[in-house]
Amino acid sequence: MQLATRVQSFTPNPFTELTMLAVQHQAVNLGQGFPDWAPPDFVLEAAQQAFKTASHQYSPPRGVPRLLQAVADLLEPQIGSIDALNEITITVGATQALHVALQTLVNPLDEVILLEPKFDSYSPQVKLCDGVPVFVQLDIEGEQWVLNLEKVRAAITPHTKVLLLNTPHNPTGKVFTQTELEGIAALAIEHDLWIISDEVYDRLAFAAPHISIASLPGMSERTITIGSAGKIFSVTGWRIGWAVAPAHISAALRGAHQWMPFHATGPVQEAIASSLEQAANNQYYQQLHERFIQQRNTLYAVLEDVGFTPLMPEGGYFIVAGIDQFSSDVHSFAKHLVTKIGVAAMPVPIFYDPSTRGSAPNALRFAMCKSLETIAAAANRLEQLKPHA
Ligand SMILES: Cc1ncc(COP(=O)(O)O)c(C=O)c1O
Repeated sequence: MQLATRVQSFTPNPFTELTMLAVQHQAVNLGQGFPDWAPPDFVLEAAQQAFKTASHQYSPPRGVPRLLQAVADLLEPQIGSIDALNEITITVGATQALHVALQTLVNPLDEVILLEPKFDSYSPQVKLCDGVPVFVQLDIEGEQWVLNLEKVRAAITPHTKVLLLNTPHNPTGKVFTQTELEGIAALAIEHDLWIISDEVYDRLAFAAPHISIASLPGMSERTITIGSAGKIFSVTGWRIGWAVAPAHISAALRGAHQWMPFHATGPVQEAIASSLEQAANNQYYQQLHERFIQQRNTLYAVLEDVGFTPLMPEGGYFIVAGIDQFSSDVHSFAKHLVTKIGVAAMPVPIFYDPSTRGSAPNALRFAMCKSLETIAAAANRLEQLKPHA
């Protein structure tokens, strides 16, 4: 009996393998991007309250009205006016929002442009829609990751349907500039492309302001903007995300969404709604920023001190650091790091397709969504890399 072709190219998730090795060797895990601190008290209290008072039965597939409104209030300052009931769909994390957005737009053999390095779900998710991923690499100029628009233009064919954008960006920490976004927007309009804009780290732009491409002229009608409550409140396991799109696109997207999860967990949606309402009026976002800037600066300094070549991220959860000083083979170095030094980090080439991996930098991705204690524990172990150690 043959399995379906679409699943035959899927290999085990490299994160699972690295996490297993990290557990086995009791390594400090700077590999996977999940926060290792408790969620804020007001969020935990909102959850307790929601599980006591909210419905435990089916809720509307598009999302509970209170959360739709809270997400609209959150995003209106960066996107413009949003019709909460008709333009937002609550999903099972941003991962499912990406999947349903692609399901809504991509026909078999349609091409989807992905900017590399890229979040690991994108390529498999395009393939799950029988679409064709097309890869365009970001360049490194000095300390900066930059987008060469001419490379994007050259990748567009009559089959191109979607460009999947991610800002702030995983793994690089790049925050796309107004000029870059205007360039992408102009190409999208010229070639009648859709943009799926993955903005899960929108609260975590430190060095430059986060700009939603949907806010640019002519773009709201061709953009699906995706977000994640998991990233906002450090509750990645709660699996609440959203997709924001014009009403007719949202209607189509909901048509598909209702046949996938039906809806995201009702009481958790209520808890996130309450948390967003409270965060709009307390200092939470500012505190989150301060926490991340401190962690980023600390981890950056540790990596630099030990001999890596870190690139200062402008946002997001991660720092990419060159390893030329230690090895020319990032995969065996990552293995050495986790098994012998006791620190897990992801090889950056795994964020490239096998066909383009040759252009990947010789670098590791370190998660900075980790407490100062965790970073200090990693620093202690990384000392062993110093020549005199
Ligand atoms: C760029 C990017 N998009 C989407 C996701 C998935 O978000 P969620 O946990 O809400 O599914 C992640 C998680 O790491 C991510 O880094």
